[in-house]
Amino acid sequence: MTAVLLFGATGDLSRRMLLPSLYGLSVDGLLPPDVRIVGTARSKLDDEAFRAMAAEALAPYIANGLGDQAKADAFLKQLAYVPLDATDMSGYQRLADATCAADGGCESQSISIFLSTAPSLFKPTIEGLAGAGLTGPNVRIGLEKPLGTDLGSSAEINDAVAAAFSESQIFRIDHYLGKETVQNLMALRFANVMFEPLWRSEWISHVQITVAETVGLEGRVDFYDGAGALRDMVQNHMLQLLALVAMEPPGHFSASAIRDEKVKVLHALRPIDGRTAASHSVTGQYAAGAVGGQPVKGYAEELGRPSSTETFVALKAHVDNWRWKGVPFYLRTGKRLGARKSEILIAFKDVPYNIFGEGVKGMQPNRLLISLQPQENIQLQLMSKVPGLSRGGISMRPVALDIGRKDAFADTRRRIAYEQLLLDLIEGRQTLFVRRDEVEAQWAFIDGIRKGWAENGMEPRPYTAGSWGPSAAIALIERDNASWND
Ligand code: BG6
Repeated sequence: MTAVLLFGATGDLSRRMLLPSLYGLSVDGLLPPDVRIVGTARSKLDDEAFRAMAAEALAPYIANGLGDQAKADAFLKQLAYVPLDATDMSGYQRLADATCAADGGCESQSISIFLSTAPSLFKPTIEGLAGAGLTGPNVRIGLEKPLGTDLGSSAEINDAVAAAFSESQIFRIDHYLGKETVQNLMALRFANVMFEPLWRSEWISHVQITVAETVGLEGRVDFYDGAGALRDMVQNHMLQLLALVAMEPPGHFSASAIRDEKVKVLHALRPIDGRTAASHSVTGQYAAGAVGGQPVKGYAEELGRPSSTETFVALKAHVDNWRWKGVPFYLRTGKRLGARKSEILIAFKDVPYNIFGEGVKGMQPNRLLISLQPQENIQLQLMSKVPGLSRGGISMRPVALDIGRKDAFADTRRRIAYEQLLLDLIEGRQTLFVRRDEVEAQWAFIDGIRKGWAENGMEPRPYTAGSWGPSAAIALIERDNASWND
């Protein structure tokens, strides 16, 4: 028997991502046929009401051609629901009874728990699970962010989880690691011979990582205002992307080898502190403007009160080791920006010597653009001669060599990042999950920046919704004779 236990089952993440992902796995025959999926949350639903909620969540996917109604009905039958106040210890036995097979009890089956709840509920939930016998070696636990708000609170959560589970049972989720292109980054770097010799400061001038969103608060008022862009996006997704770009080749494709290499990068991040915060970081908060032609409110207006929470951050980071000496990593993320795009740009240096002379037109350094969103695409920009006659000298233009997922792998469907992560959680592979030392190194870096902001009295600068952030973010990169890829 296999059971999947979803905490926060009626929440937004569950409806938008987790239930559709489990359905996707079911359609592809990747879930054990006898799987039991138990949802739990405070809402007083019964099995039927939960299935109806799930059916609604699946409907757009079915309409898009994922499976069909018969497959959805078979999947929905595997769902059950137990209402639970996570702080009420008396409810956990009911949960265990619904989760574990009648014959053989809880120890005889594989149980995967997914916690997508408020961080304040982590501790009581773990205690409740332990009391109901749901923490044995046959149980794996997936933890959805936010895992704390700083190093101290994250360590508290990690300690509480570690009191009941060993590290090999703990799966800390960063959904960016489930994205196809993020995994493809490892294939690109370590399954091709041509990039590795160039993947260093001798040939790379800088790296840009952008995660730009057009959405605003999306109703997550209290959470977001208490977090801000640095903790919501940079602490996790962006630092994981940076670590994957910068890490040394691991000895093998295993969880420990890959995570060992990533954590070395995170430890090598040069702290941004009170001395450097003003020159190496920019924060912003969106003001009223227009996104996609539609007028939108400013952040404070959306929130209903003034706030000093940042909805935009740009950083200039450095990885202090041999490979990356002197190579800036520019990071930028924000809400209500000009377009939705997530991408990594590797900007190479100029050729060491230009044989074409100063008169050559259009010569530019090579670029490798790895796009995660909205399209999954990898594009290498090479210089090429513009066809035509010349009277000495030649004209050049960058041309793009595209490895678009859509064209190269047209017969594969685009998956939700959580499909891979849930499959790995259920089957016990930790490669795409974040180890405790990584999370804590990430928090240490972020805490330093926040302290630096406080010491410098830095407040977010307003930027117009629909723009690319405060002009200071443009200046941050242009001071170094580079520019954002917009
Ligand atoms: C989440 C953040 O982790 O990532 C959200 O909490 C953000 O604020 C989201 O919108 C972005 O994820 P994606 O996959 O849409 O880029």
